[in-house]
Amino acid sequence: MSNTYPLVSAPGREWWRSAVIYQIYPRSFADGNGDGMGDLKGITERLPALQELGVDAVWFSPFFKSPQKDAGYDVSDYKDIDPLFGTLQDFDIMLAEATKLGLRVIVDLVPNHSSDQHPLFQAALKAGKGSPERDMYMFRDGKGKNGEVPPNNWESVFGGPAWTRITEPNGELGQWYLHIFDSSQPDFNWRNDKVAEEFDDILRFWLDRGVAGFRIDVAHGMIKADGLPDVAVNNSTMTGVEKESEEPHPFWGQDGVHAINHRFRKIMDEYEDRAMCAEAWLPTIDKMALWVRPGEYHQTFNFGFMSADWNKSEYKDIVDESMDAFNGVGAPSTWVLSNHDTIRHATRMAYKSVPKQGDGIGPDYEQPDEAKGQRVARAASTFMLGLPGSSYIYQGEELGLPENTTMAPEFRQDPTFFRTKGERVGRDGCRVPLPWDANEKAFGFNQTGEAWLPQPELYKTYARNQQRGVAGSTLELYKRLLKLRREYDLGNGELVWAPEHSGETSLAYINNGVLVLANFDGPAIALPKGELLATTQHDLSIEEVLEHDQVAWIKL
Ligand code: GLC
Repeated sequence: MSNTYPLVSAPGREWWRSAVIYQIYPRSFADGNGDGMGDLKGITERLPALQELGVDAVWFSPFFKSPQKDAGYDVSDYKDIDPLFGTLQDFDIMLAEATKLGLRVIVDLVPNHSSDQHPLFQAALKAGKGSPERDMYMFRDGKGKNGEVPPNNWESVFGGPAWTRITEPNGELGQWYLHIFDSSQPDFNWRNDKVAEEFDDILRFWLDRGVAGFRIDVAHGMIKADGLPDVAVNNSTMTGVEKESEEPHPFWGQDGVHAINHRFRKIMDEYEDRAMCAEAWLPTIDKMALWVRPGEYHQTFNFGFMSADWNKSEYKDIVDESMDAFNGVGAPSTWVLSNHDTIRHATRMAYKSVPKQGDGIGPDYEQPDEAKGQRVARAASTFMLGLPGSSYIYQGEELGLPENTTMAPEFRQDPTFFRTKGERVGRDGCRVPLPWDANEKAFGFNQTGEAWLPQPELYKTYARNQQRGVAGSTLELYKRLLKLRREYDLGNGELVWAPEHSGETSLAYINNGVLVLANFDGPAIALPKGELLATTQHDLSIEEVLEHDQVAWIKL
């Protein structure tokens, strides 16, 4: 199927139902001006590589004006580009180029919190207790005799208390403000309509500029329970802790968030063919599906799939659960294995278990079995890309790029590292600049050799130029899978399990006449008859058996 962009999709076949969306992490994709930090100019020059890869859309992590305390997820001006990445004009040039190449552009919207340098927060600090300015954020008096105890027991996702006490304009210690993340990221008060109005305007600003949609940051956290009650168990991941008997979590997944989802959706519907994807870490797939009911988001990240272990029963169950839950509300399922907050799956899948989401792997941790990681990651991606629905690819995974697991403490940038005094190393290991060319400085990330995070020497062997045109390389595997996915319209297809082709440790499904067969562990299994379309073993060589940790696509 040819890419129809910029035509408007047909009802029921909207582009986002089946799109393969590539996540660009602007700091690390390509650096046009050689300062060691990726930028829009660098990205624009490298966009043809993404067209060649065969993706449909590109989602950009934030490039807005920001003090960069949380790598751009601390925004001080939502309607401008940070000089680190370029200008609005550079954005327009990039968008025009992407459109020419048939790639839709999705930007990241961060509505749960702003930077503490945002003019609205600065105004709130100055205006004093009880002012309308303060009501835009979550200010509260402290407890204790002199207000010296934080208003409740909430902890920041990045470690330490979720409250910081301010010095009032008169020089005295005063109120506390809430920050579910770093202290540089104060939470907005979404019960105040003025906050919603600000964001109406921001959405329209980018939609008018021509973006295809938004990835919405922390889409499950914007409403906090009335009275801000203590949490039963503090938890440093974004899923919240919830058991049948417990009260709903006071800041994750509150019912009130759905009114915001509806409000965003109404604005999206004023424009043609745009879509939003929610970043909503919720404990079950059924809960995630609540974010994509009619009138809410178009998509939500399937973090259940991302956290599933590579074995037959977990993969079967998570796919069943996802298809049931998302089909049940008329939304496509999404599929995702890596992003800028998690350990890259080429490394994660080398382990039986890894530190919890966001904590990362450092040099003191047991180092991964690289070959195993490669094998399982290629297999999991090949299983994923055959599934109906929309898939996300995180930059570098098409190269099989592993995590940097040996980064020395002096290079760390993630606030998690600092807020936990190095106890949790954080997410820098998955954010390292991409290798483009093994023979260039900084492996072709730029021409000067600068890099804001160190690239491990082993990235050389993963460089794009080492893989391009090389049969059996991970890059060629991804290209082939994406081409076939289009040809057989798998994104819009229907999944039917094929138990007749599955064994004790293998799992098979058929989508639009393509059999996807995965062998998880145990002995090699016989390949069914048919045309071998793709295989993780050796791209397109004729094979009779499928070894463990391998996946094949066969045209029946
Ligand atoms: C989301 C982002 C993450 C960021 C956090 C706070 O989880 O993906 O990178 O640190 O929100 O904005």
